[in-house]
Amino acid sequence: MTQDEAKQLVGQRAAEFVEDGMAVGLGTGTTSVQFIHALGARVQAGLKVRCVASSESSQQLGWSLGIDVTTLDQLPELDLYIDGADEIAPGLALIKGGGGALLREKIVASAAKKFIVVADDTKIVPHLGRFPLPIEVIKMAMPLVKRKLVEIGLDPVQRLNKDGSIRITDEGNFILDCACGQILDPEETAAQIRSIVGVVEHGLFLKMASLALIAGEDGVREIKS
Ligand code: 5RP
Repeated sequence: MTQDEAKQLVGQRAAEFVEDGMAVGLGTGTTSVQFIHALGARVQAGLKVRCVASSESSQQLGWSLGIDVTTLDQLPELDLYIDGADEIAPGLALIKGGGGALLREKIVASAAKKFIVVADDTKIVPHLGRFPLPIEVIKMAMPLVKRKLVEIGLDPVQRLNKDGSIRITDEGNFILDCACGQILDPEETAAQIRSIVGVVEHGLFLKMASLALIAGEDGVREIKS
């Protein structure tokens, strides 16, 4: 099975967790795109759901598929949030933000009663830290934040777009991708990063997901937190 096939499989499986009348958060990234397509197919077949998206791109995709995607203003409490991850470690500790949507993803996840993370099995790791940790930063604070991150042992690199221009998030901020090495104490690393003035959010999602759907050669398996 290719990675794309695994993402499609797990996206379809995730859509089965959505029940009629639910308020659902839509994640961001290629796996979430598969989920949104599968959800769109169920909506076209008559499922009634209301959704909030974690990015402009997921919102646009949802609308294009006929899904009712609204704002947290209209729908502040969600039954379910479904999103991908860049790394999944024991306890369902996650690194997210590879797609640059970590801030809105964390906001939407925090509005949901249940967060199901969906991924192919390449995302499973024994410890977080192989994937560079994304950190969203206020533009003005960039030099200060970079210096402080280096002081705590991280190696921040500003994220660029493919054309070399600076990546700006949906909320108008910059992203630093930080090589961390193995993150042995994610709670401590999260606290250190959060204490830096000018950091808006980081990509460590700890104790947020309660279920992972992981696609591999044997199909989709479930991991509980
Ligand atoms: C976007 C994310 C994504 O969920 C994460 O990058 C995984 O993406 P993909 O499903 O494309 O592998 O956090 O900010």
